[in-house]
Amino acid sequence: MAGKRITVKTIAAMKKRGEKIVALTAYDYHTARMEEIAGVHIILVGDSFQMAVLGEETTLGASMNVLVALCRAVKNGAPDTLVVGDMPFGSYQPSDEIAVVNAVRFISEAGADAVKLEGGNEAAISRVKAIVDAGIPVMGHIGLLPQSIRSEGGYRVVRSDDEKMLLKQISDLKDAGAFSAVLEMIEEDVAERVSQASGIPTIGIGAGRYTHGQILVVNDMLGMNGDFNPKFLKKYADLHGIIKAALNNYVSDVAGGTFPGEENVFKGRGKNR
Ligand code: KIV
Repeated sequence: MAGKRITVKTIAAMKKRGEKIVALTAYDYHTARMEEIAGVHIILVGDSFQMAVLGEETTLGASMNVLVALCRAVKNGAPDTLVVGDMPFGSYQPSDEIAVVNAVRFISEAGADAVKLEGGNEAAISRVKAIVDAGIPVMGHIGLLPQSIRSEGGYRVVRSDDEKMLLKQISDLKDAGAFSAVLEMIEEDVAERVSQASGIPTIGIGAGRYTHGQILVVNDMLGMNGDFNPKFLKKYADLHGIIKAALNNYVSDVAGGTFPGEENVFKGRGKNR
């Protein structure tokens, strides 16, 4: 896949061939660069930035200006990867027109390839259709909806009672023109049936093994937060431990006078001992 730009058509073809789609979040140039080199197909500039990087309790305070700036950095780092800008709370809920204006910002200011928005109700489907009609690919997002935390009252796994609703939502998303959909925190057998019924690729997080692809929050899978250990997460590194040890070494080097060392200093001509 190296050197070949990934588009929504590539993603559709991967589903058709039964190839798993690898998605991951990123919020900066260097991480995006490394993800592209590693072979990630879709990078989501998620509003999860608000929690994973800013330490907030919810994603609700995420702002368009910040996400557009982060998305630009990510696209610079991953020019050949499908970069999706996550539409933050308030950027699409008011109306179809506001949704299109903000989706356009991700494409024109940030260079994103697509946008994502949460929900499968009538209003969300209308927003998806309006944005698709404006020529912008849309990724849907159903199951647990972090932007609806206030009305839902908490984060919970979506179970079989909601299967009928999820099946309707995935079908409505497809009809509205979405090119794929995130399935978040759904019992595995339910997510499997939704994925089988969907005509579009499903990308799971906490939704088991049978979605067409998987996504994780990059800071979580790299182990930045030692205290965050939900069941669905696999940690591929312990950056918390690595960074903690490096910081302890720096503090003791400076305190003990061993940094800067001889090799780190500039000297006047003739004074290099
Ligand atoms: O904001 C985000 O990172 C997301 C993923 C968890 C899918 O929406």
